[in-house]
Amino acid sequence: MTVILSFVYLTILSFSMSGQAANLSSIEILNNCSYTIWAAANPGGGKQLNKGQTWTLTSVTGSGRIWGRTNCAFDDHGRGKCDSGDCGGLLECDRRNGRAPHTVAEYSMNQVESGNDAFFVSVVDGFNIPMEFTLSSSSSRACGQSTSRCAADVNGPCPMELRDPGGCNNPCTVFRNSQFCCNTGSICEPTSYSKFFKDLCPEARTYPSDGTRGYCPNGRNSYKVVFCPSTASSTVLPTPSNTGTNIVQIHN
Ligand SMILES: *[C@@H]1O[C@H](CO)[C@@H](O)[C@H](O)[C@H]1NC(C)=O
Ligand SMILES: *[C@@H]1O[C@H](CO)[C@@H](O)[C@H](O)[C@H]1NC(C)=O
Repeated sequence: MTVILSFVYLTILSFSMSGQAANLSSIEILNNCSYTIWAAANPGGGKQLNKGQTWTLTSVTGSGRIWGRTNCAFDDHGRGKCDSGDCGGLLECDRRNGRAPHTVAEYSMNQVESGNDAFFVSVVDGFNIPMEFTLSSSSSRACGQSTSRCAADVNGPCPMELRDPGGCNNPCTVFRNSQFCCNTGSICEPTSYSKFFKDLCPEARTYPSDGTRGYCPNGRNSYKVVFCPSTASSTVLPTPSNTGTNIVQIHN
């Protein structure tokens, strides 16, 4: 017994003294929508969040995805289905991603450019629920960019050909070609569809080669993912710089 305890003690001691303890972060997920959401995380599982409820992922490291599911029904064994974001019919999306269309909050902790954190809200797999990914205001880290979001209602103005009962599809899901899916291994350009998303959500990643992201110094950060965030700052955007990649035809 004494031997085991001193081994545990020495292990903890050597971790803290060498500074090699993992730089773990936390992510608080808040359902700020007026309706129930079944939040999902890979890794992390899944949880029903009624209006105003939160779910906190602790010891977050590496890469992962967080998204929301709508209109779910699960039995006592956590099996069932959802109208959007479904992960193989499981309440706990253990190592399974959701079905498009769905808005996704993605992160890569401790890994980007000498160990920094990168995170963003993506509509590359379409849109179902407005989302925001930020560094918590309680954190005081100096970030390169501390927010990424798609706060607008994309379902309303969604082009007819992208409409889906669960939300607004990404063009790759519908058309399955390399221009939209960007699966040739080279860098892809924005498309008229990605520009539709960008106009509504300038602070979100809108196509596979879109570099939009939040960026903070590595480790031990507190992040927040909000479903149905305030739309306040979106009303002043997009700025002219967001249209810089558009092909503009000038007629004299
Ligand atoms: C944790 O972050 C510090 C800098 O904040 C770094 O020096 C250290 O190597 C990191 N540890 C790991 C295990 O990544
Ligand atoms: C939640 O939504 C309301 C509007 O419905 C908004 O005023 C508020 O700022 C939102 N909260 C967060 C944390 O985004």
